[in-house]
Amino acid sequence: MLKISSMRLSKLASAVLVTSAALSAVSAGAGEVEVLHYWTSGGEAKSAAELKKIMQAKGHVWKDFAVAGGGGDNAATLLKSRVVSGNPPSAGQIKGPAIQEWAAEGVLANLDATAKAEKWDSLLPKVVADVMKYKGSYVAVPVNVHRVNWVWANPEVLRKAGVVGMPKTYDEFFAAADKIKKVGLIAVAHGGQNWQDFTTFESVALGVGGVKFYHEALVALDPKAIGSDTMVKTLETFRKIKGYTDAAAPGRDWNLATAMVMKGEAGFQFMGDWAKGEFMAAGKVPGKDFLCAAAPGTSNAFTFNVDSFAMFKLKSPDAQKAQGDLAAAIMGPEFQEVFNLNKGSIPVRLNMKLDKFDDCAKLSSKDFVDTAKSGGLQPSVAHGMAISPAAEGAIKDVVSQFWNDNKITVADAQKRLLSAASTK
Ligand code: BGC
Repeated sequence: MLKISSMRLSKLASAVLVTSAALSAVSAGAGEVEVLHYWTSGGEAKSAAELKKIMQAKGHVWKDFAVAGGGGDNAATLLKSRVVSGNPPSAGQIKGPAIQEWAAEGVLANLDATAKAEKWDSLLPKVVADVMKYKGSYVAVPVNVHRVNWVWANPEVLRKAGVVGMPKTYDEFFAAADKIKKVGLIAVAHGGQNWQDFTTFESVALGVGGVKFYHEALVALDPKAIGSDTMVKTLETFRKIKGYTDAAAPGRDWNLATAMVMKGEAGFQFMGDWAKGEFMAAGKVPGKDFLCAAAPGTSNAFTFNVDSFAMFKLKSPDAQKAQGDLAAAIMGPEFQEVFNLNKGSIPVRLNMKLDKFDDCAKLSSKDFVDTAKSGGLQPSVAHGMAISPAAEGAIKDVVSQFWNDNKITVADAQKRLLSAASTK
């Protein structure tokens, strides 16, 4: 991701590729909401369609601006080009510290009127509300709470391999992975893209080092923690996992990796719970066709990833009205339920009934509440919730280089991480 504040938008204009899609886009008209998002896989598209339905039912015109590419890097680039050319969409899928960077550019709309009317302050966990505000005013609206530190499994593959229960430690995990390999199947379905590499890496750091280490090394970017023996163990464990992936992993999309687990070609996948949305969209039943568990060693922790939409300043009063309606709809109980049932996440709105949700979601909700009290609730770095986009990009690159090149030693990777962590 590009760091916005280091390159003012005017300068950025020359740096970004303005694609034909961006050029041909017309500005949002009255009652129209143009929504830029990256929900294009089966489960994601089903979820996004629910928002479209609700907005259409309110009489608005939905203009879909979907940009394929898991993790949203492509979407972020296109969004920049649209804003730079003075033609922002109504809403863009932006989250975490990037919201602050966009707000600092002066391009985001103030949502306080909607937030006040809808009582967002009392409906959101404070840790989430704070991320949505810039200088005390709402500029973005949250959609959900995804948990990142999950591992997914195919129970039939585990049965064939003679693996009983989900692994709770890395010793158990590697023992299970060996058994799966022995029966000729792929132990770990992985998509080799840097956000997916880091999704695995941060879960390993959390499982190997615990919450305090995760926080110090990856959130606070403390050189002592990055240079520690625990980081050595994290990198070694991470590299060992690679030995259980298949040769076709590089470049693979995350949902194709999920499909490998679904089809019984692979045993496990490390991925956030949008993977559950994928299983569900294919008609799979949790607990029967697929299993969910906290990644090894992380049951007392919760790496959160809150999807949100930032709203851009628009000129036309009708477009502003539609935008306010969109913000209100996103936080409304109807959307929060139906969207999250499809997306694999849990509602971000507090006090929602979870009767219709499955056991993975109920576990997520319980752990969200418990870890908020214990300190185990931590922002996901891989999903843009923790550190500046510039530092995030730099440490992601190091981790992926280490994953892809066995010649890079653990000590080298540690040194590179130290220097990447100081990226401003
Ligand atoms: C987003 C999810 C999305 C996933 C895969 C994550 O960063 O938060 O909403 O499903 O990437 O694209």
